[in-house]
Amino acid sequence: MLKFEIIETDGNARTGILKGTHGLTETPCFMPVATAGAVKGVRWEEIKESGYSLVLSNIYHLYLRPGIELIEKMGGLHRFINWNGLILTDSGGFQVFSLGDLMKLTEEGVYFRSHIDGSKHFFSPELVVEFEEKIGVDIGMVLDECTPYPATKEYALHSLERTYRWAKRSVEARSTDKTAIFGIVQGGVYDDLRLKSAKLTAELPFEGIAIGGLSVGEPKEDMYRITSLIAPKLPFEKPRYLMGVGKPEDIVVAVEHGVDMFDCVMPTRNARNGTLFTWNGKLNIKSAKYKEDEKPIDETCDCYTCKNFSRAYLRHLFAAKEINALILNSIHNLHFYSKLMEKIRKAIKEKRFKEFKQEFFSKYKVDEE
Ligand code: GUN
Ligand code: ZN
Repeated sequence: MLKFEIIETDGNARTGILKGTHGLTETPCFMPVATAGAVKGVRWEEIKESGYSLVLSNIYHLYLRPGIELIEKMGGLHRFINWNGLILTDSGGFQVFSLGDLMKLTEEGVYFRSHIDGSKHFFSPELVVEFEEKIGVDIGMVLDECTPYPATKEYALHSLERTYRWAKRSVEARSTDKTAIFGIVQGGVYDDLRLKSAKLTAELPFEGIAIGGLSVGEPKEDMYRITSLIAPKLPFEKPRYLMGVGKPEDIVVAVEHGVDMFDCVMPTRNARNGTLFTWNGKLNIKSAKYKEDEKPIDETCDCYTCKNFSRAYLRHLFAAKEINALILNSIHNLHFYSKLMEKIRKAIKEKRFKEFKQEFFSKYKVDEE
């Protein structure tokens, strides 16, 4: 049911169309994060107006609250949350494994305690596929073990092998092609393990493949090296998804290596703490230097916030803890990410991605690490 067509390539970078029963998205794309079935601070109208047609939600969160059965009863996830675009759900492989002591890993699956009320639960690869099919998402991620950083090579090997065995079980557990399933490459920061995981995952009949276990605290060089090593080797004709990435500069770099899909809480989370994206880099709206600044956040931005409000006003709203500060900031940051992806796609279509990248980095002030 899910179709992916590559329209143009420029080096390893590609632009294409990802099509499902709930619409289509051009790639490379960024997915706004709607963990619990809502993008924090932003209405669906604004998500659509910003050009998004694919959002990310999370099986771990939806399972705990409001529950898979309830969502099914309410007519599936699209109907329940009233989003008629595409939805991808992460499996909980990341959330559960960050629970630490509240989690027990076995070959069969993972036992964990709810971060909400401490109640006991169990996820297996089969159950996660069943949940994703039941609530009717367009794309579901397999249950994986997100290898933590740092991890020994031995640990990373066992973890990627388990993730592979779980991936095979996920494929076996499928009962429909209405929900596409993506596999996940693990392997920590070890090049040979990453290559092994990529090869094994690529052999399975997934509709797409993700690179997981990155942006988990490893040095930036590791993330860039592994992305550049693995992304170009994944099956050309399938969408490639870099999970949990990232900063605008990380997205530009990963696209160059052939990544098609991204997600990150950064635009919405940063918005809520007053950090706004501009083509010159990040801007902290809390700063006193914006007290009397009549300019919009970014003079080239045509989002609702920039068309209507000054930095001075947004700074005041933030200082006054007005809810509108969070809403207006979130609208701008999501718009910025959408424009970034639009510029990226245009540059690939015109076969001038290298020039685009150069221009982007000549203006955009990158975070120091
Ligand atoms: N989100 C960010 N990284 C990961 C990962 O490695 N696995 C899963 N399931 N989700 C992620
Ligand atoms: Zn704006």
